[in-house]
Amino acid sequence: MSMTTEIDYGTPASKATKEVTLTVDGVKVSVPEGTSIMRAAMELGNQIPKLCATDMVEAFGSCRLCLVEIEGRNGTPASCTTPVADGMVVHTQTDRLKRLRKGVMELYISEHPLDCLTCSANGDCELQDMSGAVGLREVRYGYDGARHPNPGIDASNPYFTYEPSKCIVCSRCVRACEEVQGTFALTIAGRGFDSVVSPAEQKDFMDSECVSCGACVQACPTATLNEKSVIEIGTPSKSVVTTCAYCGVGCSFNAEMRGDELVRMVPNKDGKANRGHSCVKGRFAFGYATHKDRILKPMIRSKITDPWREVSWEEAIGYAASEFKRIQAKYGKASVGGITSSRCTNEETFLMQKLIRAAFGNNNVDTCARVCHSPTGYGLKTTYGTSAGTQDFDSVEESDVIMIIGANPTDGHPVFASRMKKRLREGAKLIILDPRRIDMVRTPHIEAQYHLPLKPGTNVAVVTALAHVIVTEGLFNEAFVRERCDWAEFQDWASFVSDKRHSPEEVEKISGVPAQSIRDAARLYATGGNGAIYYGLGVTEHSQGSTTVMAIANLAMATGNIGRKGVGVNPLRGQNNVQGSCDMGSFPHEVSGYRHVSDDATRAMFEALWGRPLDAEPGLRIPNMIDAAVDGSFKGLYIQGEDILQSDPNTQHMAAGLAAMECVVVQDLFLVETANYAHVFLPGSTFLEKNGTFTNAERRIQMVRKVMAPKNGYEDWEITQLLSNALGYPMHYNHPSEIMDEVAQLTPTFAGVSFKKLDEVGSVQWPCNAAAPEGTPIMHINGFVRGKGKFVITEYVATDEKTGPRFPLLLTTGRILSQYNVGAQTRRTANVIWHEQDRLEIHPHDAENRGIRDGDWVKLTSRAGETSLRALITERVAPGVVYTTFHHPDTQVNVVTTEFSDWATNCPEYKVTAVEVMPSNGPTEWQEEYEELTRQSRRIAENLVAAE
Ligand code: SF4
Ligand code: SF4
Ligand code: SF4
Ligand code: FES
Repeated sequence: MSMTTEIDYGTPASKATKEVTLTVDGVKVSVPEGTSIMRAAMELGNQIPKLCATDMVEAFGSCRLCLVEIEGRNGTPASCTTPVADGMVVHTQTDRLKRLRKGVMELYISEHPLDCLTCSANGDCELQDMSGAVGLREVRYGYDGARHPNPGIDASNPYFTYEPSKCIVCSRCVRACEEVQGTFALTIAGRGFDSVVSPAEQKDFMDSECVSCGACVQACPTATLNEKSVIEIGTPSKSVVTTCAYCGVGCSFNAEMRGDELVRMVPNKDGKANRGHSCVKGRFAFGYATHKDRILKPMIRSKITDPWREVSWEEAIGYAASEFKRIQAKYGKASVGGITSSRCTNEETFLMQKLIRAAFGNNNVDTCARVCHSPTGYGLKTTYGTSAGTQDFDSVEESDVIMIIGANPTDGHPVFASRMKKRLREGAKLIILDPRRIDMVRTPHIEAQYHLPLKPGTNVAVVTALAHVIVTEGLFNEAFVRERCDWAEFQDWASFVSDKRHSPEEVEKISGVPAQSIRDAARLYATGGNGAIYYGLGVTEHSQGSTTVMAIANLAMATGNIGRKGVGVNPLRGQNNVQGSCDMGSFPHEVSGYRHVSDDATRAMFEALWGRPLDAEPGLRIPNMIDAAVDGSFKGLYIQGEDILQSDPNTQHMAAGLAAMECVVVQDLFLVETANYAHVFLPGSTFLEKNGTFTNAERRIQMVRKVMAPKNGYEDWEITQLLSNALGYPMHYNHPSEIMDEVAQLTPTFAGVSFKKLDEVGSVQWPCNAAAPEGTPIMHINGFVRGKGKFVITEYVATDEKTGPRFPLLLTTGRILSQYNVGAQTRRTANVIWHEQDRLEIHPHDAENRGIRDGDWVKLTSRAGETSLRALITERVAPGVVYTTFHHPDTQVNVVTTEFSDWATNCPEYKVTAVEVMPSNGPTEWQEEYEELTRQSRRIAENLVAAE
């Protein structure tokens, strides 16, 4: 392992296809038209001295260090802002240039405090480097930096400091915040010698609009903006490229280490998902990996009321295996099952489902995708033939109209949101369908053309109304439909959507969205050029989640917005590997590559390799397992990396099901809430401690690389292997690459995937096989995977969850930028500073009617249960709608969510719960009991740590 330093080309790459040839210092080079002279020189390995330029942002031309001479032109233009021209002859190193550069550097250095030997960026500072590069040997104006403003260090951000005395006012940070992140949190305040970078309105970073993405820290050439971890530990000495383990964007990072200590995560410019950008979670929130709450030794107990007993790995695995065998002998083969994790690698997930199908001998395997994007799998497979999104992220750069439905990208998928915002600033139009006024509705330099604030639960009605306008106004793409889709099915569908009951005027009565907005939005999407739809859990987590996915697919087909760059239907996947866990065969009815277990030929292929007969009947989904446990027929569960008690709906029912089982094995990093019901706890490993692959929302398979030894002793796949061996089904993998080789052997869409290939090319998007050896960035280019695109009738059926006098408000849920899902990881990092508790957003009218003031405790009650939390009064939610996050277990908002779920996939209807909100004095009784339980768990964990 060595330190990889990425090349900084000084200015962004030109997208032009035409090449021009110039001569730099006597050497010819051909580059795309529009390339800067600086970048062209760098292509030759010739770095022109620079300070204000970096290839993540557009050139600015302020430092005047990068001057060059061009034959036939007067003066010494800046090479960062001067584009190349055919036949140009450039000199980068003449006596005049040397003299000028020394002069520039003299001024910079005289402004800068020269405490280099004790500076945190010593050895990693471009100012130092440039002093050396220009041969600076004396500074005529002194060295004390006294003229530079020094308002003191701003250490308010938990992860980085801002030390203005070291600022060279290059404005790279300001431009990174604007161009890369799109937040516009920074400005240059003051003039001349008094110029200084400042979070807008001269606040400190914590009080500003800053979202801690780290782009400015990354861009800063000096120690002015610097990671606190570097200040504390020192500069890193080696690095490994790996993939973020939080969300489905799948950002690539250089994990930079000193010894076995992770110093910082630096976004990788070669990462095709993130292109060198990051968000606060992947960039900074990795401290959970070394948090004291981590359980590192296996534990067992006979009853869930007994205290945990720390045991050896052999004993824990042996006990779990004997319990599963005992249960199957007593209650039958189908009485046990397992849940795979979308947090784990493809290889780990594949092995889990293999253990269940081959060692347990049933198909009782499910995954957390059940509760998020299972309707995506169903809906897109039905209409297009593939259970995945159609585009790569780069595609957004060619979109003219972006429609966001039920997603909140700036919080849920922040790095992709930044790419979207960039395209919107370039002029693309924006349509948003969301009950809340999410940030994208109006954010610096962006304003949605249409925000359709639909009532929760009316997605199908509104999307079908959009189709009504497109069809009845003749805005559909007949040529595309005739060529690519089933024309007869289209005609049936067209006649269905044309019915008056689907008109915007009728749908306004159901959804609350003004008819004119629906009409205008439909016209814009159908006629505005490349139309791309991005959607999230606000689409899927409904009783009609699958129907909405198909309604969206219909819309894209009808307008011809499929099969090329800039268009498509794109699910914004939640977890880092939710796409992969589905791909790997985590569903009870499908093996890897989405092939049904009832297909004899498919089963035969697996049986031949695995040496065990596979059940042709689909197994139980998570809710079925829990129902069966309550009924007494399901007795044992192996859960890898999912806190189902907190993340699944109807908490009481889930708790009852878990409590009724005789052996619950939880494999996780922490004593998560589900572990309260476990008999065996197997310590899991973090993404920093394992090798494998994740697959992101654009089907991109990327390497996860081990940067430190697993603190628990094993990578998660090794634990599954140990259990399988103890169960009597031998597994003998030496490395996860061998598991991927098996996936490739058994899965046609993965046939061309191997660790070797990923090491060579960085990443590939499946399908990757003989037909597409380099992968498939855009799907359905020449035809749909299923043949003809299928139009599906999408009748709107109102959810059974109705508001009424007792429960007059509709609750919808979501997550925020700084926290991740149930918060098991992010709550164990400094990110808690941004979100210490879940709050209930309520509109001022609804709050006033109930006598609720901002910050008051309120009781949130539904037919399913009740919880208490503090109110946040805001117009982000419409009257009649309340909203909260689900990051904190002491709130457990899923206590109030119902048992209703998607008709096709059982994905819970998290996004619609009829509730009442009333003032309260504080936490409910169960929350107080829960607090006590948590305190007990903490004491146990602390005692175990102390005993080590
Ligand atoms: S951390 Fe990100 S959001 Fe904050 S100021 Fe820097 S670039 Fe802007
Ligand atoms: S803080 Fe850093 S990046 Fe920003 S202007 Fe100062 S030196 Fe440049
Ligand atoms: S956007 Fe997602 S993948 Fe990227 S750094 Fe943030 S959490 Fe990680
Ligand atoms: S690097 Fe070109 S002017 Fe600063």
